[in-house]
Amino acid sequence: MAAAAASTQLKYQSGFGNEFSSEALPGALPEGQNNPKTCPYGLYAEQLSGTHFTAPRVANRRSWLYRIRPSVTHEPFHPVNFPNESLTADFTAGTVTPNQLRWRPFPVPPEPVDWVRGLFTLCGAGRASTKEGFAVHVYAANQSMDNSALANADGDFLIVPQQGALRLKTEFGLLDVAPGEIAVIPRGVRFAVVLHNGAARGYVLEVFQGHFALPDLGPIGANGLANPRDFLHPVAWYEDIEGLSYSVLHKLEGHLFVAAQSFSPFNVVAWHGNYVPYKYDLARFCPMNAVAFDHPDPSIFTVLTVPSYTQGAPPTADFVIFPPRWLVAEHTFRPPYYHRNCASEFMGLIKGQYEAKQDGGFLPGGASLHLCMTPHGPDTATFERAAGMADLGAAEGPAHLGHETLAFMFETTAIPRITPAALSCPCVDRDYYKCWVGLKSHFDPTSGPNMTSHPKIQEAGAAKATGSTAAADGTASAGNGSLLSG
Ligand SMILES: [Fe+2]
Repeated sequence: MAAAAASTQLKYQSGFGNEFSSEALPGALPEGQNNPKTCPYGLYAEQLSGTHFTAPRVANRRSWLYRIRPSVTHEPFHPVNFPNESLTADFTAGTVTPNQLRWRPFPVPPEPVDWVRGLFTLCGAGRASTKEGFAVHVYAANQSMDNSALANADGDFLIVPQQGALRLKTEFGLLDVAPGEIAVIPRGVRFAVVLHNGAARGYVLEVFQGHFALPDLGPIGANGLANPRDFLHPVAWYEDIEGLSYSVLHKLEGHLFVAAQSFSPFNVVAWHGNYVPYKYDLARFCPMNAVAFDHPDPSIFTVLTVPSYTQGAPPTADFVIFPPRWLVAEHTFRPPYYHRNCASEFMGLIKGQYEAKQDGGFLPGGASLHLCMTPHGPDTATFERAAGMADLGAAEGPAHLGHETLAFMFETTAIPRITPAALSCPCVDRDYYKCWVGLKSHFDPTSGPNMTSHPKIQEAGAAKATGSTAAADGTASAGNGSLLSG
């Protein structure tokens, strides 16, 4: 990508799940019907369905594309001999482990590799063939996809760049996506990844069923977290290039196929519909948090979710971020608490240092994975500092988790299996468990109540200990009674 092109400010359409429309030539979009006998400018009409035809209206996704030549015009597909088996949708050979897993940053290989060949599957669950489950990949690339495009028939890609800005050429138009932003490429949409400035690295959540949606907000109300207007969709853009040899890649059940065609697949002059790729700037996320005491569950930071087919059932996957924010909770252990989760958690770091890990092992471009009920939490240094044991004189004022840090999590209901390549790669941090080994017992049955607990409870406890003095004047006992009984 030339520097001049990289700096071009693209236009977008904002919203989430609405009906969009765009035309690169005036009047290219048919009025009043989807497939007239002849389309304006001699274009072909083509529908792209993202849900089954009879899906309920609220869930139904499809778009109509008006293109110079239809996507069916190509030589036969044949399997691509991928240079390694790093990309897969088959997890039968994968393994599970109750051990905590962590990977150091995945290197960008020295040899030329584009985004597709740079995909490396770490784990996944379910099957693409029955449209159940998900896969988690990382990518590392140093070449743009020239004269090639990929369509993923297995599911939707959520792309999380960590290093290097990307230009996503899609059938619907162009998206510029930098680290700190995300993009979603729905199932079947053809796209190519162009590198803006050298090597690129990042993470991908692929879901074999459903589509990404905004989470319900419940008591939060109508606003907050990821607001719909901040999701940006492309405007129609096309290239009328004939006579070259273009490779159209097609991923089906994790296998890559390729077909040659003599024209660019990015030949859509106009389109309309609600099945469209999009991007989102994570800096637009409006976090909610505790403003008095205690620590909320990470679900409060859900950006996107993939709802289950079954009403009320847990989602296939959630995309959660840990954004810059103020921490103000008093008499509270502020880092994430120790926990065991019925869901499985894959975490990545886009930049900075994650608040629960100070041992230096969780680095930007690396990852961690804790399967169902695997215990985890802050490392020894984080605990000692946050609990005040390393610095008993530390003041407890508001603290800002700086703008220089951004972590995320793919939380999944099904238990992922780790691919053999991911378990044996040199990036595996085999000493990860040691970050908790130093946690020692601070238990002392003779030391009395914890003096960092809730002050109301301390106050009530003190009143109880000193007999009837506080209760006699009425105010202290009345003010604390409900807390003591609760
Ligand atoms: Fe966790």
